[in-house]
Amino acid sequence: MEDQAEKLREIMKRKKEGTVPAKSASAAKTTVKSADKPRIITVTSGKGGVGKTNLSVNMALAFARIGKKVIVMDADLGLANVNVMLNMIPKYNLYHVIKKQKTIREILVETEYGISIVAGASGFSQIANLGEEDRRDFIKELDSLSNADIIIIDTSAGVSSNVLDFIAAADDAVIITTPEPTAITDAYGIIKIIATEYDSLNMGLKLVVNRARGAAEAKSVADRMINISGQFLNLKVDYLGFIYDDSSVPHAVIRQKPFMVVDPKCKASICVQHIVERMDRNKHGESHGFGAMLRRFFGGSPDTI
Ligand SMILES: Nc1ncnc2c1ncn2[C@@H]1O[C@H](COP(=O)(O)OP(=O)(O)OP(=O)(O)O)[C@@H](O)[C@H]1O
Ligand SMILES: [Mg+2]
Repeated sequence: MEDQAEKLREIMKRKKEGTVPAKSASAAKTTVKSADKPRIITVTSGKGGVGKTNLSVNMALAFARIGKKVIVMDADLGLANVNVMLNMIPKYNLYHVIKKQKTIREILVETEYGISIVAGASGFSQIANLGEEDRRDFIKELDSLSNADIIIIDTSAGVSSNVLDFIAAADDAVIITTPEPTAITDAYGIIKIIATEYDSLNMGLKLVVNRARGAAEAKSVADRMINISGQFLNLKVDYLGFIYDDSSVPHAVIRQKPFMVVDPKCKASICVQHIVERMDRNKHGESHGFGAMLRRFFGGSPDTI
C-alpha cells in the first residue's frame, strides 16, 4: 500500500503542478451539456477479487429494471472481465479506442440484458497504465456516451493512476470491500489516498460491504470504516449497503450470466436491488455530471468549461 501511495502522490503532485496538460478550448466546447447528464458511478476496491465486476454488472441490471439507460464500462485496462461475465466476445474493445482506431461509441455493444457494455482490453499490459495525454483523451471520449442515464465504470483493483482518474471523474465513487481484514485495510488505504489527494472535493464516497454473513456484520465493518475515515481523514463516507455471501453468485459467474438474471430472488440480487434503490433516491446534484467530471479531471474552473 505504501508504494502505491507514494506513486499516486507523485502523480497527483504533477497534476497540481500543472505538468499534466491543461484542458483545450475545443474539449471544453464539446463537453458542455445542458440537458440531463449521465451519472457516472465508479466501482473500485483496494484488494482484488472482492466483487467489483459482479456489483457493476448487476447494479447496471437493477438500474435498467427501473427504466434507466445504462452502460457498463470495463475500465480494467489489463485484465478485462465484464464481457467474460456476460459471455460476450466483442470484436472491438478499449484497446482499439486507446490506439485511436475506434471511438468509444463505435465499440459500445448491447447485451441481451438491456444494458450496453464497453469492453475492456485484456492482456495488453502496456496500456494498463496509460500516459497522461492518452488518459485525458480517453476520459474525454466518455462524452460521446452522454445519451446514457448512468455509466458504471468497473475499475481494476488497487490504486493506479488510471483508477484515480476514474474516481476523480465520477459522481459517485463506490468502494467495495469484504469483511476480511485484508480487504478492509486495503479499502481504507484507497479511501485515505482519495482523501489526501482530493481534499477539497466532495467525492461522494460510498461503501458497499460484499460477502457479508448478515446485516450486523456488514454494518459493523461499515461503521468502523466510516468512523475511522471521519476521525482521521475528516472524510464523509456513506454506507450504501451490503451484499450477502451467496452461492448464487459463483454459480452465475460459472454460467457467465449476471446473478440478477439467473436468480433474481436470491439474497445477493435483493441486496443489489436495495443498493440501487438507495442510489436512485440519492440522486446526484448540480455539481455533478460531465461538466463537473471534466472540471475535476482537468482541474479547470467551472467558468472555463
Ligand atoms: N456476494 C458474493 N457471494 C459469494 N461469492 C461472491 C460474491 N461476490 C463475489 N463473489 C465471488 O468472488 C469472485 C470475484 O468477484 P468479481 O470478479 O466480481 O471481483 P472483482 O473485484 O471484480 O475482481 P478483480 O479485482 O479480479 O476484477 C466471483 O467470481 C465470485 O465467485
Ligand atoms: Mg473485476
